Amino acid sequence: MLMEIQITHQAETKVACDALVVAVAAEKKAGQKAKSVVLSEVAKTVDEALGGVISEMCANGEIKASLGELNTIHTLGKLAAKRVVAVGLGPQQALSTDAVRRASAIAARHLQHTGSHEIAYALNWPGSGVDEIAGAQAQVEGALLGLYSFRKYQQADTNSNGRGVTGIKLLSEDADEVALNQAIERGSVFAEATNFARDLVNEPPNVLTPTELAHRASTMAKRFGMECEVLDRPQMQELGMGGLLGVAQGSAEPPKFIILRYRGAPNSIDKGMALVGKGITFDTGGISIKPAERMHEMKGDMSGAAAVIGAMQIVGALKPTINVTALVAATENMPSGTAYRPGDILRIMNGKTIEIINTDAEGRLVLADALSYAVKAGLSPIIDVATLTGGIVVALGPVMSGMFCNDEQLSQEIIAASKASGEKFWPMPLDEEYAELIQSDIADIKQTGGRGASAVTAAKILENFVGDAQWAHLDIAGTNYIDSKKPYQEKGATGFAVRTLAELALRRAE
Ligand code: BES
Ligand code: MN
Ligand code: ZN
Repeated sequence: MLMEIQITHQAETKVACDALVVAVAAEKKAGQKAKSVVLSEVAKTVDEALGGVISEMCANGEIKASLGELNTIHTLGKLAAKRVVAVGLGPQQALSTDAVRRASAIAARHLQHTGSHEIAYALNWPGSGVDEIAGAQAQVEGALLGLYSFRKYQQADTNSNGRGVTGIKLLSEDADEVALNQAIERGSVFAEATNFARDLVNEPPNVLTPTELAHRASTMAKRFGMECEVLDRPQMQELGMGGLLGVAQGSAEPPKFIILRYRGAPNSIDKGMALVGKGITFDTGGISIKPAERMHEMKGDMSGAAAVIGAMQIVGALKPTINVTALVAATENMPSGTAYRPGDILRIMNGKTIEIINTDAEGRLVLADALSYAVKAGLSPIIDVATLTGGIVVALGPVMSGMFCNDEQLSQEIIAASKASGEKFWPMPLDEEYAELIQSDIADIKQTGGRGASAVTAAKILENFVGDAQWAHLDIAGTNYIDSKKPYQEKGATGFAVRTLAELALRRAE
């Protein structure tokens, strides 16, 4: 997508565009029952130029300013803009950059489908909760995330109106130009990387094989000047990656272990952090095969891999002074005459053995090798991201991802980064009593812990492979993919965790 983003200092009444987006928020006055609507300063000026139509709509209860609410007013020549769109931000007391990001995405998506090509956003919100610089990043990020679509396998684009949105103008009052440009750059970089991760997940599994995933990671690495190494089966055998090899042995597609190395602090003795991604390019369940019903969605079982590769793109673009390594264990999980079976015992790279109970619990096996690799490479902290369990979908649904962490400070850092990115994580337990559930009679560890707390027992298995490193496990099953469209996003991949991981790396560099 070629998008031109420009700052303009023109007055709101003078900006020529198809649609000018201005913000409104809801306010509950003390002692008053009804909510009222507050306009941003730019919205007030526009309201005056239009003879008070926005105020009138507020008074009539037509504009309520709930988050993402859109009201279109045609200007009929009273303004240089053809239309004004009043976008709701929700309650003013709760106003955050995330509300700006969400509202921006919804407005952009709507305008794209209703014949707008040049759109303008006022960098101006009611109250003082969001400043122009932070808001600018959220505004740009939101717009580019909202405009995302995956249509490369359709002959004609049936969902967009002509050429769609091609240019975005940002109306700035008097913000520091350098800081503003930097915010716009960050917003575009964050959105572009998220959309890259979405593409990887949305690609069909016959196209996005482990080999193709490695190829796309290496193309990205070249573009952003970082090292990419891809290990093949013989090297995995040498390293003793029995988990990854075991899962891969049923597939005709060769497995790949993808390593991306970004060295922003080449002189530091700190080897830096590891981002580890589950890269199952298709999960049939293997011999313990899944039901047919929603199996096609298992093309998204490499969303953890997509998240870490996407985060590396941000790191590569913004070049923080920190070392970051991404590790992706990529394979299909297929049933066949050569597939691994329930009852097998696999030996992981760190020497520990796992008794296989259900071949559909493959993620923990490939991650066990990747985590062992990270420990051996001296990397810390280690953050793994995986669509690991149906249990986390039951627990948290499509709203939040589960976060398991063995270090209080790291856990707080992740939560802080996730607040900035707008992706939500909820802390989950690693209590030692859960370890009883994964005791095996004939191996070091049993692969599954039964129906109860299955997201927790999966995390407890991973814990066996992190050594003394600070470690967090992010279970993004449920948040990685939406099965119906939202006003801010089409059906399919969300790109979840890309921005939180990148934000974490950028903050650790400061
Ligand atoms: N990839 C799945 C988990 C998943 C479920 C992701 C739903 C996205 C949506 C994982 O490999 C899996 O099959 N997990 C099983 C493990 C069980 C057999 C112990 C699960 O959680 O049901
Ligand atoms: Mn599975
Ligand atoms: Zn899986």
